[in-house]
Amino acid sequence: MTNSLALSPEQIATFQKEGCLVIPNELPLETVTKLLDETANLLNTFSLEDHPLTQFTTGEGTEERPHVGDDYFLESGDKVRYFFEEGAFETDPKTGKQVLVKPKERAINKIGHYLHASPEVSPTFGEVTVNERNHAIVDSLGYDDARVLQSMVICKQPTIGGEVPPHQDATFLYTKPLSCLGFWYALEDCTKENGALQYLPGSHLNTPIAKRLVRTGESGEIKTTFEPVPGAVISEEQLELQKDASKYKWVECPAGSLVLIHNSVVHKSEHNLSNKSRYAYAFHVIEGTADYDTRNWLQIPSTGGANFTKL
Ligand code: FE2
Repeated sequence: MTNSLALSPEQIATFQKEGCLVIPNELPLETVTKLLDETANLLNTFSLEDHPLTQFTTGEGTEERPHVGDDYFLESGDKVRYFFEEGAFETDPKTGKQVLVKPKERAINKIGHYLHASPEVSPTFGEVTVNERNHAIVDSLGYDDARVLQSMVICKQPTIGGEVPPHQDATFLYTKPLSCLGFWYALEDCTKENGALQYLPGSHLNTPIAKRLVRTGESGEIKTTFEPVPGAVISEEQLELQKDASKYKWVECPAGSLVLIHNSVVHKSEHNLSNKSRYAYAFHVIEGTADYDTRNWLQIPSTGGANFTKL
């Protein structure tokens, strides 16, 4: 018997070939509005008091610009936390200190990582995440026991929305065998102007996960670093391809669209220099039967564990 909520054979084939699948009109607009309203509420009411002003740097990091890895970030797996855009700060020439120069509701890069299960937020996030439709989607992609690891609102703020360099999600959410899958819902129209997603079609088929983000250090001094995955090497040709802007496919899509993102597909987005934000709600699942080790940055509870929500 076919499940009417499942992906169609054509959609499954597109996902397997491209590493990405766009499903327009997935969320009713009233659901989109609810999620946007709740996001506005969160941004307007979170407190700057005692906030470490952690800025979110995505991608695989560089020495000058490492991937975020402070306690505020590392403990966010079972909390609702607010990460700033780098462009929301300026350096005070007198003191050399970073000063927030944007209103807080326009300064946040993303809110994460427990929106799907936190009693602090509207149940709409949980309802959009754990439901029969999404269960049918993962079922059609062959998952036996899908688990939701993390969820977030990505804000991509007007004029300062940070660029996300080319990356593969399994670098950050590593399982053996690889299994993570991204659900990414546009809450606003995504265009070339406001930094729509872009991906390298088919790259999941020939780009191994060559490094992973891991926790290092003793308790109280935990940081993150990238570690090579033994035996996995990305060819020079692939690396060159990732630098070639013309090889990426744009995912321009209206609010309410769902984009499914394969764990190994190379994707990125540019700075949002426009006056329009590009809000999205995203969550990731893994196969519950895959090995998820304690070295992954994301632990629930944050002290160590893989107590992930069943989808
Ligand atoms: Fe990603």
